[in-house]
Amino acid sequence: MITGFNHVSIAVPDLDAALARIERLFGLRAGAPRINEVQGVRLAYVELGNARIELMAPARPDSPVAKFLERNPAGGIHHFCVDVDDVAAAAAALTADGARVLGDGSAQYNVDGRRIAFVHPKDFLGALVELEEKEGRDHG
Ligand code: CO
Repeated sequence: MITGFNHVSIAVPDLDAALARIERLFGLRAGAPRINEVQGVRLAYVELGNARIELMAPARPDSPVAKFLERNPAGGIHHFCVDVDDVAAAAAALTADGARVLGDGSAQYNVDGRRIAFVHPKDFLGALVELEEKEGRDHG
């Protein structure tokens, strides 16, 4: 089902400050920040060659990331993401096995238009896991 590691995601209260800090301290450069309207986040990716770091901040007050930052005001690791060949098939197989795939069942997409889903932390050893489909729609 899982074919690779995609990214780790860190929620931050201030995306621009976070980007400046990791560039100054670690020389890490992120791509331009983008907004995922559906998820309610503003995010940017640091490409590391074999994986990425996703930095995200709430784009609106009712974003799930805003709720996370209420509990963790300084930010922190929010989820990690693995590659799967087929998100719908993986979600169906997990649900059939009693695992909880978050959302109302409608398809979710990331900022690159790739299909994603989130698995409840209680069903992956306490960690929120994002599944990302390797091939997806083109941008937009
Ligand atoms: Co992610």
